[in-house]
This record gives sequence, structure tokens and C-alpha cells, in this order.
Amino acid sequence: MDTLDTLKAETLATIASANDSAALEEVRVAVMGKKGSITALMGDMRNLSPDERKARGAALNAVKTAVEAAIEGRRGELKTIELERRLASERIDVTLAPRPETQGRIHPISQTVDEMVAIFAAMGFTVAEGPDIETDFNNFTALNIPPEHPARQMHDTFYLPPSAEGAARVLRTHTSPVQIRTMLKNKPPIRIIAPGRTYRSDYDQTHTPVFHQIEGLVIGEDIHMGHLKGCILEFCRAFFQIDDLPIRFRPSFFPFTEPSAEVDIGCSRKGGELKLGNHGDWLEIMGSGMVHPKVLENCGIDSTKYQGFAFGMGIERVAMLKYGIPDLRSFFDADLRWLRHYGFVPLDQPNLAQGLSR
Ligand code: DAH
Repeated sequence: MDTLDTLKAETLATIASANDSAALEEVRVAVMGKKGSITALMGDMRNLSPDERKARGAALNAVKTAVEAAIEGRRGELKTIELERRLASERIDVTLAPRPETQGRIHPISQTVDEMVAIFAAMGFTVAEGPDIETDFNNFTALNIPPEHPARQMHDTFYLPPSAEGAARVLRTHTSPVQIRTMLKNKPPIRIIAPGRTYRSDYDQTHTPVFHQIEGLVIGEDIHMGHLKGCILEFCRAFFQIDDLPIRFRPSFFPFTEPSAEVDIGCSRKGGELKLGNHGDWLEIMGSGMVHPKVLENCGIDSTKYQGFAFGMGIERVAMLKYGIPDLRSFFDADLRWLRHYGFVPLDQPNLAQGLSR
């Protein structure tokens, strides 16, 4: 075997045994690089006679072509091998059980809102939203609370500087302005709930400057108080998970509803302990009523053709009742020990089929 054949055989063997692309590249440079063995043999040809050069050139080219083809072939094989190696090393075992117990908790406010949304969604409600910074018009005037109306005093409003267009603004004191936004934007029939943050300048054991409410609004051509009553009864029993929970509508006053009623649920206070259920005593949980014709007209809805009901309730308040949380202020303390105790496991999404809270 002459040296050229030896060189070819050895080179092909090293190419075949190159284990990764780096090793293969090393072989390529050693043979065909500037100082490579074949490159050197090519250079040596300049000392040969034209005839010898022709024969030698052909032989060298054949070796070069064979080596190039082998490198290309090996490169393809290595690509597959390296991909397989990577896939094996980056493998994630998706069959591994999730470990929710080591993760965070859902805040009782979020959980309560999710439960409420699940219940009302099953009744055909959709969720509407409005901003925390609200115009004085939407928060008060359009809801039939004109300037100087005594109801404004009851709201302990945080007033803000007017908008660029000069509109008076407040931090919304209730979620009722979402009623206005919804009616200004949509034609009846309307069936929405609006959970969200609300603000009042008040702080004691039962009041925090930030709290949450959920608003409900139903508008149609033949909506009456019977619908309001059925809807609230259904909601209360599903939410508190007490099948015979009684409710009572107690006449009241809100500027934006006529007639207005506060809703009480059955309870007992025997021995100083509050217990929900059919026990003879009553506990107030929300405001409600038939939407005032002036409110409908303020939103461009014909009050001779359409009517509807609305309700609003405090989320912390019902969460405290349902989950036995004693202090309102603890909701906003961001205390991890409290959250671990009262919080909910993220993977347990409330839904009516599986139960609201497990
Ligand atoms: N916005 C009232 C409040 O914050 C609650 C309320 C009462 C809302 C009656 C309503 C309603 O929609 O009809 O005290």
C-alpha cells in the first residue's frame, strides 16, 4: 500500500471514530486545513513534472473527495447522535406528580370571587369591569345621587384631582358605577356581575380603606322582584352550601333602586357564636332593589319599556362568614402564616360540579 492509500485509510478510520462534531472538525483541520496533511501533499506537487503532476493530482483529488464525503457523512450521523444525547439529557418527566403543598396559596378574597363567578356564571351572568378611579358622575350622579345629596356623606369618599378634561374624580366607593358603564355601553337584555376593589376613608375593626364588593345587574323587558328574590336565594344557598338557608327581604333605601331591600340570611347567635342556617335569627348580607327609572334614563334606557334589578355585597364580609375569619383587617396584612392558614390550594378551582371549596 503506498503512503497515499495509508493516509486515506487512516483518515477515514479517524473520521468514523470521531465522537462529536468538535472531534470531527479536528480531523478535518488536520487533513484539509492550511497545515493539513493533504494540503501539504497538494503543495508538494509544484516540484513535479507536468505529467507526474497530472497523475498525482488525480490521485490526490480522489483521496480528497473520498475524505470530504466521509466527513459530510459522519457530520450527518453526529447531528442525529447529538440531538438524541440532548433530548435524553433534557428530558422532563411530565408524569411526576405536582406538589401544590409546597407552593403558594390563593387569597380568600380571590377564592370567594372565583366561587361567586362560578355560581353566577351558571345562571348566565357575565363578568363586567370598571376602573378603580371613577368619575364623580358614574360613582354618584348617574346613580341618582346628585351633588349635595346626603348619601354622599355616608360614603367617606376619597376625592381625586379632576381629569385632564376637567371631570371630577373619586376612588370608587362602591361597584355600582359599573352598572352605569355597562348600561351606557350595552343595550338590554343585560345580565352582569362586577367584582372589584372599592375605597372609603374609614378604618376600624369592621372597615378598611380598601375593600371589595360584587355588583349584580339584570335588565330586561319583564324583570320583576320575583327574579331578584329567586336569583339571590339561589346564590346564597349555593355560596354558603346550606340547602335550607332562609333569606328575607327587608325594606330599605338606596337612591339608585326603587323599591329597595336589604337581604338578610338566617342565622343563630346562641352562646355568642354565629351560625348560619334556619335558626330564627337574621344577618344582613347585601343591598338590592329594582333599578330606579332615573338611573335607566341617565343611561339612555327607556324606563317605560325596560326594568331590572341590582344588588351589591361586600366580599370580605361574606368570606368572613363562610370561612370563619374573625378580623377584617387581617385580609390586608399580607401575613404569610395567615395566608397558609386561610388560603386555598391553587389547583382546586371552584366549580359547581366538584363543589366550591374543598
Ligand atoms: N352600592 C351599595 C353600597 O355600597 C350597595 C348596593 C345596594 C348595590 C343596592 C346595589 C343595590 O346594586 O341595588 O352600599
